[in-house]
Amino acid sequence: MTRIAIIIGSTRPVRSGEAVAGWVHDLAAKRGDADYELVDLKDYDLPHLDESLPAASGVYEHGHTRAWSERIDSFDGFVFVTPEYNSSTSGVLKNAIDFLYAEWADKAAGFVGYGVDGGVRAAEHLRQMLGRVKVADVPAQVALSLFTDFEEMTLFKPAARHEDAVTMMLDQVVSWSEALRPLRA
Ligand SMILES: Cc1cc2nc3c(=O)[nH]c(=O)nc-3n(C[C@H](O)[C@H](O)[C@H](O)COP(=O)(O)O)c2cc1C
Repeated sequence: MTRIAIIIGSTRPVRSGEAVAGWVHDLAAKRGDADYELVDLKDYDLPHLDESLPAASGVYEHGHTRAWSERIDSFDGFVFVTPEYNSSTSGVLKNAIDFLYAEWADKAAGFVGYGVDGGVRAAEHLRQMLGRVKVADVPAQVALSLFTDFEEMTLFKPAARHEDAVTMMLDQVVSWSEALRPLRA
């Protein structure tokens, strides 16, 4: 079965990302077309990039890198759930991406952003950086507004219409993840 990671892009103690990713996971789990797993960066506790060699070498000296590598390598595609911080994605997510290379390559990714303008600038920056590690970014995107999809900008209450956007984004992530399989073989 195709395996898709839903990656929580925030590690703040009080974060909206967990509720947003949980909502995406609940919708995804009903589809039956792939195995969807939540991946929480908090579980990996990665320091600022501390490997001596570039990730493209595939040579990792630290246990935390090997654990992260093994988990990401096990997936065929990704959904990045990203907050917008200062017009970009979170530093912790950028750092986690920088740790690896081949584990991301020739896989598909979709984006769920949240922020005052739906996290669109964060997702755009992610598209740019993921292109560098050979990720195929699907066009469908979910953009959640802090004003209309959260109460008092913190309690997640998504408008019903976003469910269709999630469906479209997941349709594309699954089909592209499967189409790219020969390149990963
Ligand atoms: C350091 C920081 C910078 C932020 N900058 C932006 C921004 O540039 N644009 C925006 O729409 N929201 C911005 N926000 C608001 C966050 O998108 C919002 O608080 C979001 O819920 C944070 O996600 P999290 O709770 O999952 O960490 C910023 C929040 C933080 C903590």
